[in-house]
Order: sequence, then structure tokens, then C-alpha cells
Amino acid sequence: MTTNKDLKIDAFNNPTNQRIIIKRCNLDDLDGVIKVNEEELPEDYPYFFYKSILDNYPESFLLAQNEQGKIVGYIMWRVEKSPSLDSLRYINKGHLVSIAVSQDYRKRGIAKSLLNHSMQAIRKYKIHEYVLEVRVSNYNAIKLYEQFKFQIANIKKNYYRDGENAYYMTLKNKK
Ligand SMILES: CC(C)(COP(=O)(O)OP(=O)(O)OC[C@H]1O[C@@H](n2cnc3c(N)ncnc32)[C@H](O)[C@@H]1OP(=O)(O)O)[C@@H](O)C(=O)NCCC(=O)NCCS
Repeated sequence: MTTNKDLKIDAFNNPTNQRIIIKRCNLDDLDGVIKVNEEELPEDYPYFFYKSILDNYPESFLLAQNEQGKIVGYIMWRVEKSPSLDSLRYINKGHLVSIAVSQDYRKRGIAKSLLNHSMQAIRKYKIHEYVLEVRVSNYNAIKLYEQFKFQIANIKKNYYRDGENAYYMTLKNKK
């Protein structure tokens, strides 16, 4: 049975004519997501961390799948209440936890599609701002976020385990 949760929310062809589908993550998909994470990013997380993001924010936990059903990308967000940078008010922020696309599938618009759909989905939590951290050396990811109009709000020193600094990037949610 197909449930709304399984709904395929995007599909597009790419230069190799492989059909890529963007859809919501299910529990069964977590191993595939973790595999992409471990191959593509130095920051990895225990299984229960992914599970808790999926339990709490399933709408914005999306993945990209190829025609064979292999997971080739994912994105996950969480929501946090914290002070706004420009006022003392507490606001809901959509915090990008992680995004990655497998090497062989990059530069085809998959990350853009994952961001587009997940940012729409997380709006249901009345997000005032989207926020994220990115390594200052991660040119590709910074370009991607700038395309979405994220701006560098500040630098977090020694943010990563290896001591690299992060840019803290933010984007106001236009209601
Ligand atoms: C960053 C990442 C997710 C981009 O995925 P992708 O599917 O290749 O990105 P897209 O094809 O959707 O590209 C979207 C935009 O990102 C930027 N971008 C992505 N790859 C780029 C590259 N190699 N060079 C320059 N800009 C690049 C561009 O602005 C691009 O838009 P354009 O195609 O109109 O120029 C991917 O490179 C990745 O998984 N990197 C490793 C994990 C990572 O760094 N995650 C981010 C942690 S904060």
C-alpha cells in the first residue's frame, strides 16, 4: 500500500538518463542514508541520532534514490528554539543537520532539489529562520547555500573535531 509518507515528491532525468527520485525517508532507508553519510562526510552520527531525527522531523528528512533503489543522497533538519541574532526573542529555527550526495551523482541538481523540498516541508513548524554550519573550506556547499540566499552570519571557531572553523549561515523564512 502506498501511504502519503511514501509519496514520491520529485523525479527528474539527468545527463546519464538515470531517473532520480526525491522522497521521504522511511525507517528501512536509514542504513542507506548512513552509508552515504559515511562515504561523503567526516561527521558521522550513531544510528539512534538518525532515528530520532526521523521520529521527530520526518517531513523534512528526504532522500534521493536512483532507478535501482540505491540511496544516493539525503537531507535532514531539526527544529530548535533559540534567540534570534537580531533581537532577544526566542524563535523557531530550522537547523540543517546534514546533507550529502554521492560523488557519482553530484552536479545534477540533486542537492538543490533536496533543499527545495525539505525547506518547504519544515515550514510547518513555523520556522522564522533557517540556519546551518558549513566548513569554511567547503566551497561547493557554500555556493549551494548562497544560491538559496543564505548569508554568513558569523564564524564558529574550532567548530569541527579537527579544529576547522564553520561559517554559521542563516536565511529568514519569508512567510
Ligand atoms: C555540497 C553537495 C551536497 C552538493 O550536491 P550536488 O547534488 O552536487 O549539488 P547540485 O548539483 O544541486 O548543485 C547546486 C549548486 O551547488 C553549487 N555547487 C555544487 N557543486 C559544485 C561544484 N563542484 N563547484 C561549484 N559549485 C558547486 C553550485 O552553486 C550549484 O549550482 P549550479 O549547478 O547552478 O552551479 C555535494 O557536493 C556533497 O555531498 N558534498 C559532500 C558533503 C557536504 O559537503 N555536505 C555539506 C555539509 S555542510
